[in-house]
Amino acid sequence: MKTKINQLLDEVNSLKAGTLEEVEALRIKYLSKKGIISALFNEFKNVPNEEKREIGKLLNILKNNTQNTINGLRDTLSSAAKTEQGMDLTRTADPIKLGTRHPISLVKEEIADIFSRIGFTIAEGPEIEDDWHVFGALNFPPEHPARDMQDTFFIERNPDIVLRTHTSSVQTRIMTEQQPPIRMIFPGRVYRNEAISARAHCLFHQVEGLYIDKNVSFADLKQALLYFSQEMFGADTQIRLRPSYFPFTEPSAEMDISCHICGGKGCNICKNTGWVEILGCGMVDPNVLDNCGIDSKIYSGYAFGMGIERITMLKYQINDIRLFFENDVRFLEEFKSAY
Ligand code: DAH
Repeated sequence: MKTKINQLLDEVNSLKAGTLEEVEALRIKYLSKKGIISALFNEFKNVPNEEKREIGKLLNILKNNTQNTINGLRDTLSSAAKTEQGMDLTRTADPIKLGTRHPISLVKEEIADIFSRIGFTIAEGPEIEDDWHVFGALNFPPEHPARDMQDTFFIERNPDIVLRTHTSSVQTRIMTEQQPPIRMIFPGRVYRNEAISARAHCLFHQVEGLYIDKNVSFADLKQALLYFSQEMFGADTQIRLRPSYFPFTEPSAEMDISCHICGGKGCNICKNTGWVEILGCGMVDPNVLDNCGIDSKIYSGYAFGMGIERITMLKYQINDIRLFFENDVRFLEEFKSAY
């Protein structure tokens, strides 16, 4: 009897079942009233008295082990079944929320798209520049206030290396690298050491435009800018050029568009003037062409530069530039259907 019990102990330890029905069959085989273990208990009365203690103990161990093994098998199979019924393991854990395009990227692309339709290609340049590309080549005299510490971020106390304050520096790069005809726009980030407020930021974006060829005139500039303004702000948009000054253009102008909010009648966006300023422009100063290795006796050209934040704020009536840099999803999601 003792050997029989030991054999059964081994057998029971390695019981296996693939379904709950198989577990039930095992229970019946070992533990039911007519099962193997009950039969052993029935035989117990025939065990000689001196062995009763030892055999009784073994029988109880066998019964408990069998019970535990069968319960274990049942638990494993029924929790697996629950998983199959209650959960779809092929589903993603959480719905993935798609992000939205940033309004600055959307408007930057729209600007690029408009100019590409009239033959402009795109180039980019470095944000960390030397003084010559940002100021020197562009006719900024050494004492010009734009070079002042208050406007410009300098790198590692080396006054020759700056974070570019305008994308006009890419004009310098392109003009020194290639000969006309050049018809390009240069979008990118610019930096200025300004106090951050609703209207100004130390980081913003500009798009620069440059067209250099033989016989380029101010009339060409006006036509390109009128086309751009009407594409961007609507076919009724009018433009107005006011004389201005930039070191790298001569003559220079600032351009206003008729206020697209009030249609020119006067509102708080245009401060009741009917006009809003959107960019600076002019004919590239012959000195600048010569500085960059382009013969100003043969070629002429125009340039313009605008702030992308400004265009975006006007187009979508956003009144605080800081919103562009805070990445508040409530703000960004408003542009979901913009394009
Ligand atoms: N670089 C000027 C600025 O940052 C903008 C500008 C004005 C660019 C006139 C031009 C231009 O190309 O012709 O304020």
